[in-house]
Amino acid sequence: MPVNLSGRHFLKLLDFTSDEVRYLIDLSSQFKALKLTGTPHRYLEGKNIVLLFEKTSTRTRCAFEVAGSDLGMGVTYLDPGSSQMGKKESIEDTARVLGRMYDGIEYRGFAQEIVEDLAANAGVPVWNGLTTEFHPTQMIADMLTVQENFPQGIKGLKFVFMGDARNNVANSLMVVCSKLGLHFVACGPKDLMPADELVAQCREIAEETGASITLTDDPVEACTGAHVVYTDIWVSMGEPAELWEKRIKELSPYRVTEKLMALTDSESIFMHCLPSFHDTKTTIGADIAERFGVTEMEVEDAVFESSKSRVFDEAENRMHTIKAVMYATLK
Ligand code: CP
Ligand code: NVA
Repeated sequence: MPVNLSGRHFLKLLDFTSDEVRYLIDLSSQFKALKLTGTPHRYLEGKNIVLLFEKTSTRTRCAFEVAGSDLGMGVTYLDPGSSQMGKKESIEDTARVLGRMYDGIEYRGFAQEIVEDLAANAGVPVWNGLTTEFHPTQMIADMLTVQENFPQGIKGLKFVFMGDARNNVANSLMVVCSKLGLHFVACGPKDLMPADELVAQCREIAEETGASITLTDDPVEACTGAHVVYTDIWVSMGEPAELWEKRIKELSPYRVTEKLMALTDSESIFMHCLPSFHDTKTTIGADIAERFGVTEMEVEDAVFESSKSRVFDEAENRMHTIKAVMYATLK
């Protein structure tokens, strides 16, 4: 059956079929070709979108802004603190107001239920630009990146997430791998594993697609033969800074090292949604180095800078894939 996502929200990948996810990846690839050949694609001329950010962003904000402008749309950005939302106006009322003015709404912030609530009341497509639970636009970019590196097919690849395996990115990777038939391995300490209910949901999907979900606290077992090794920061936005000390202690064994990468498949790649603490060139990185003597956190600088690293391709792909998500839902 042909895929038609017109008018749909984009809140989490659990809401989409495997075919719909593949459609968005293929469409992203087409938009990438248009961009790289300088072919104009102002297909949504005359439409307007609004970007609501309750947490900071570089990639997601810029991807939505550039993609919106390339598609010919007007783009409004509302930063954390500059709108009435949440403080003087409920989510429901905000959604009903913005839905009268805009053709689509992006939200980055806290609980998944906030973006679901916006979607229920806006009357126009709502896109999740990251919540505490999920980061779905990141997934389309990540899977496009995997596909570009394994053009013979991504089904059956061993995809390992190292670290805080119950954060928004890890949860979403487990969902997308189960939808697309990859063997997903969550590797981290036992208390930072994805929720049982989500694991059960993904295992049910995996039965249909040939995927598998493995949870382990053994980095050697996880990385052996891996095609993709992925990691993310150890303390996510919205979590208290006091957590750093605890997380450094419990997650240091799960740092992606050259030694672990040596166990992976010869064609393997390293991925990270970014931003990353791979050196001390940030204020937080420098502070952690001073307080705890740790100069590289979730990944060694040598791996981040290695020929296996695809992190900047992945970042670029955010723009092509967010363009595809907006086009597919607004056209
Ligand atoms: N990967 C990602 O979402 O980056 P930003 O926080 O910069 O948007
Ligand atoms: N887990 C990270 C992802 C950032 C893109 C966070 O939520 O801060």
